[in-house]
Amino acid sequence: SANLKWGVPRPRAAKRVIVAQTGTGSHKVAILGAAGGIGQPLSLLVKMSPLVSALHLYDIANVKGITADLSHCNTSAQVAGFTGKDELAGSLAGADVVVIPAGVPRKPGMTRDDLFGINAGIVKELVEAVADHAPGALIHVISNPVNSTVPIAAEVLKQKGAYDPRKLFGVTTLDVVRANAFVAARKGLPLADVDVPVVGGHARSTILPLLSKARPKAAFTDEEVEELTTRIQNAGTEVVEAKAGAGSATLSMAYAAARFLEASLRGLDGDDDVYECAYVQSQVVPELPFFASRVKLGREGIEEVVGSELRGLSEYEARALEALKPQLKASIDKGVAYVQQQQ
Ligand code: NAI
Repeated sequence: SANLKWGVPRPRAAKRVIVAQTGTGSHKVAILGAAGGIGQPLSLLVKMSPLVSALHLYDIANVKGITADLSHCNTSAQVAGFTGKDELAGSLAGADVVVIPAGVPRKPGMTRDDLFGINAGIVKELVEAVADHAPGALIHVISNPVNSTVPIAAEVLKQKGAYDPRKLFGVTTLDVVRANAFVAARKGLPLADVDVPVVGGHARSTILPLLSKARPKAAFTDEEVEELTTRIQNAGTEVVEAKAGAGSATLSMAYAAARFLEASLRGLDGDDDVYECAYVQSQVVPELPFFASRVKLGREGIEEVVGSELRGLSEYEARALEALKPQLKASIDKGVAYVQQQQ
């Protein structure tokens, strides 16, 4: 990921133009929940991407103003706004990638699972529409609890006969971004070089940063492993508490989602060396049908789920992996059951 074209810190490239005014890309991206705390800065970052020719913004409220506002940036992507359920289909027509940050965020004291009651229904409804109106699109699910909303999306797509596991992703890029930032700071490493794979899921102790596999290779004491792992797992809560009721991570999440989107678009374009961690269907851990792993992104979405990171884990990581299995399994089962019960 060292050669990302936009959105990633490159301390040594201070002179480069970071906002592309024109681009040659021809991808169509739809953002569902575009007027929210994540949706707005994400829309701005996508409007800046040279890989995007059309940007469709959908939300149940406040889309008109954001569309007018963004459309004045003199970058290539053409922005169109869609609001209300009647316009959902139109927002999806022809989309190559559909990004879903719709739904309520946490407040202090809440777990991600506390959002299930509201967000499960939102994700179900939106993915049903994706199946009907953008059946070949990559789907990036941001809405929490990701550990359950991705299985929900998969079940909905299966019911619609539109499920292609290569094209469904839970966005866990923020866990990687945080791990990279915290490790670079703790070890005094150049930020742009640090790459820490984060596997498992996207809630509390299901978030498993593999510090033993961090690049560049760094030595961590047991205390550092414990401290960094805990900080990465609790980083979302750190933001929720700092915002004191005003929501959860939005700016860093928008940044992470833009990074994952760019990687996906480069994969669609046939770039041969695009890898990101994401929460996807896999057999890497046989008892967990969904698991965050490093994946290779290609012309059809996931080209390969790289399971090799799970070989040669440290003792600490191996124990943490065993410990997260029942929790992640329960969240997956909860999502599957939610859709199946409604049949
Ligand atoms: P927000 O409340 O600021 O924005 C959510 C937006 O979704 C609002 O504009 C709302 O109108 C819209 N919305 C609600 N129902 C909708 C529907 N049926 N169709 C279309 N739009 C709808 O929330 P924020 O901060 O943007 O967070 C969004 C989600 O992202 C939350 O579930 C949050 O937990 C999750 N999140 C995920 C992260 C991850 O790493 N995957 C990190 C941070 C947040």
